[in-house]
Amino acid sequence: MASLKPIITLPLRPRDEVKLAHDKLFHNDIIGRRIRDTLSTRKRRAFRVTDPTLAEYTDLTPRIVTPIYSQDAAAIVSLLDLNPTVPGTDDEKLEIFEAGTGHGALTLHLARAIHAANTAPPPKPEKQSDAQTTDSQGEAGTDVADQQLEAYTAWLKSRRAIIQTLDNRREHSEHAQNTIKNYRNGMYYHNIDFHVGTIEQYISSRLSKSPTPFLSHAILDLPDTHTYFKLVAKALKPNASLLVFCPSITQINTCALDVRKNGTPLFLEKVVELGAAIGVGGREWDVRPVRPRAFLKARAEAAERGQAAVEDSAEAVEQSEEDGWELVCRPKVGQRISGGGFVGLWKKMFIE
Ligand SMILES: C[S@@+](CC[C@H](N)C(=O)[O-])C[C@H]1O[C@@H](n2cnc3c(N)ncnc32)[C@H](O)[C@@H]1O
Repeated sequence: MASLKPIITLPLRPRDEVKLAHDKLFHNDIIGRRIRDTLSTRKRRAFRVTDPTLAEYTDLTPRIVTPIYSQDAAAIVSLLDLNPTVPGTDDEKLEIFEAGTGHGALTLHLARAIHAANTAPPPKPEKQSDAQTTDSQGEAGTDVADQQLEAYTAWLKSRRAIIQTLDNRREHSEHAQNTIKNYRNGMYYHNIDFHVGTIEQYISSRLSKSPTPFLSHAILDLPDTHTYFKLVAKALKPNASLLVFCPSITQINTCALDVRKNGTPLFLEKVVELGAAIGVGGREWDVRPVRPRAFLKARAEAAERGQAAVEDSAEAVEQSEEDGWELVCRPKVGQRISGGGFVGLWKKMFIE
């Protein structure tokens, strides 16, 4: 529905209604209308029927956690440079890991981006017990439900592109699942596997089944992102990307310094500031660990004064490799910094 402030209704059901301030809109008055038809409430407020775009839907649906806003989600999908191939080509499976699921806003944008890689799913049995109780044919009904479930499970295994999304809060995951199911009859829902638990549990259990890296992309939108880099990097295929979304540039800095300190095989490809004030596509930042000249000069002078012997022990040399690093951290263009979030994009290095 569109008015000055668009309203997203729940799926339309004859007896349901949309509550408005001192007014209401009956689903029955909307059902059967064409897109762009107008209608009015009992109190003569006018509305126009529309189909929400995915951007409107993710920005306006009721939420219990802050989503990545649609224009930032679109920029993230673009930065990932997803190129899923159509069914019939025998390319490797495209697996994308996302934590946390949150509102499911980015999940839905990702699921749309990979949609064309998968064939149409067979009908999903709602719940096995529902399928059994709605069919009064006794045993035959159970068979139909079992066959449906079997076909759907086989289809899930055959998917060529999947979003593996994880949240540690069950209520967030369930809310996101419902939101995603309600968008255009769940057309993108089937491209997603939802997980509740920890990143460690998910990645470690996958790698214990097969140690071969399986992820083409990983996205982290949660606190303390840097603490998951080492583990997630193990699951990334060579040249796969790890993208993090953080509210502050200092969190990207922490990730960059941690990667260097831990020797994690990741290369920082890009840092981009996103947000309404920045404009479409984001503003690129220059974030690099550097050793300021003053530090290097002082070290050289100390060496000349005969202090080099101190650094002859392996420990001292190692220590010196960690000392004196600072981060260059500035917008690549423009002067003012305002609002929005920051994206860091790392690429998994090839390890011989
Ligand atoms: C900001 S929200 C993510 C929003 C999401 N990207 C979207 O577009 O809707 C962060 C989510 O991360 C989850 N989270 C926080 N810490 C986590 C952890 N250690 N492991 C998994 N999920 C976590 C939270 O429960 C929350 O749902």
